[in-house]
Amino acid sequence: MAEAKKLFIKTYGCQMNVYDSERMVEAMGAQGYEQTERAEDADMILLNTCHIREKAAEKVYSELGRMKPLKAAKPDLKIGVAGCVAQAEGEEIMRRQPLVDLVVGPQSYHRLPQMEEKIRTGAKALETDFPQEDKFLHLPKERLPKKGPTAFLTVQEGCDKFCAFCVVPYTRGAEVSRPAERLLGEARALVERGVREITLLGQNVNAYHGEGEGGTWGLARLIRTMAKIDGLERIRFTTSHPNDMEDDLIAAHGDCEKLMPYLHLPVQSGSDKILKLMNRKHTAESYLRLIERIRGARPDLMLSGDFIVGFPGETEADFQDTLALVEAVGYGQAYSFKYSARPGTPAAERPGVDAAEADDRLQRLQALLGRQQKAAQDAMVGREVKVLFEKAGRLEGQLVGKSEYLHAVHCDAPAEMSGTIQKVRITNSSSNSLGGTLVSGAA
Ligand code: 5AD
Ligand code: SF4
Repeated sequence: MAEAKKLFIKTYGCQMNVYDSERMVEAMGAQGYEQTERAEDADMILLNTCHIREKAAEKVYSELGRMKPLKAAKPDLKIGVAGCVAQAEGEEIMRRQPLVDLVVGPQSYHRLPQMEEKIRTGAKALETDFPQEDKFLHLPKERLPKKGPTAFLTVQEGCDKFCAFCVVPYTRGAEVSRPAERLLGEARALVERGVREITLLGQNVNAYHGEGEGGTWGLARLIRTMAKIDGLERIRFTTSHPNDMEDDLIAAHGDCEKLMPYLHLPVQSGSDKILKLMNRKHTAESYLRLIERIRGARPDLMLSGDFIVGFPGETEADFQDTLALVEAVGYGQAYSFKYSARPGTPAAERPGVDAAEADDRLQRLQALLGRQQKAAQDAMVGREVKVLFEKAGRLEGQLVGKSEYLHAVHCDAPAEMSGTIQKVRITNSSSNSLGGTLVSGAA
């Protein structure tokens, strides 16, 4: 048998891209490729890119630049760009970096095999259409052996919200939900391969409205039905928009045991003026009321969020409103970004905030969020949590896994406990993880 060709794939950005990369590895597997962790060994390099902030796209171009010697050493090496930069820049990528052979947008991954055949003849291949079909449906059915007990499952893609700063509605297109039956089938297949925790993914996951038995299903119904799968222990979902947190989904946080008490619910800003300019269609007050209701259903819920500082028009007073909202909510974890103008989005036309001022705000916000994160972690010390062990830990004899609250937990435990859920008493909190000891008597 001919030796397998090697594919090196580098993934930037969100979990959706991580999921897509796995599917691309499967698609290329059918073309005789196997994955390698070393770019130098590769016959094909794919960059799965992110366009959400400026630096990400620039990083892609510098990464491509660094590939020149690899291509010089191996003229047959094929280089491809996938993901949202591919969608947004299209042909421009090949113009700016002629060593690129293939450009494929996120909705066209099922075309990869044909594209690979085309570039093998020395031609270039470009696909950035938005076909009306489920891109995952065309990928090979046989799955790779699963490496760990956790998996992502994309349930919807795209977004119709058009926040004024965001490229997603342009790069990922309109909101499309995958049919419920297919997702339940994929979830069952994952569980058969040893997966115990599934994270449902979507740019606007709680806007999910897929075809299911008896009509259209919302996310809560999908979660409740998925929770009936034996052997599946945990369900998470990300990322949500506050306006799509429907009553049933809030209720599920209270009564669906397998739904984990962690919610990523971006608010972006605490100023109503800025929220309006961002086209968010909610206010700081409505967000706070929503949080209250979700916490009413699940008091120990750990909250996470996204924030943008320095959005065009943001004054110091607006920024203070953001700090006040953060104080009022108390986040367990959060991501914060300096606004970056994305070409083609409405906000890109507006005069920006002074860069030094935006840097300063970002630092102040991150200091506050960092204090909250530390406080939430420290509050776990002395408590008993359930940890799904995923792999060997930093030290000999240790395993590491995630608590219900998505904290990384290190613990002395026998290797055969990997892939199982165990009770752990938290004994210490360090910068990015917790440490604990096994509670005898198992989970
Ligand atoms: N500038 C800065 N941050 C952005 N995000 C999205 N677009 C931009 C932008 N143009 C952030 C938002 C979003 C997260 C995924 O990335 O906070 O929730
Ligand atoms: Fe972008 Fe999220 Fe707004 Fe959609 S809801 S436009 S993905 S920030």
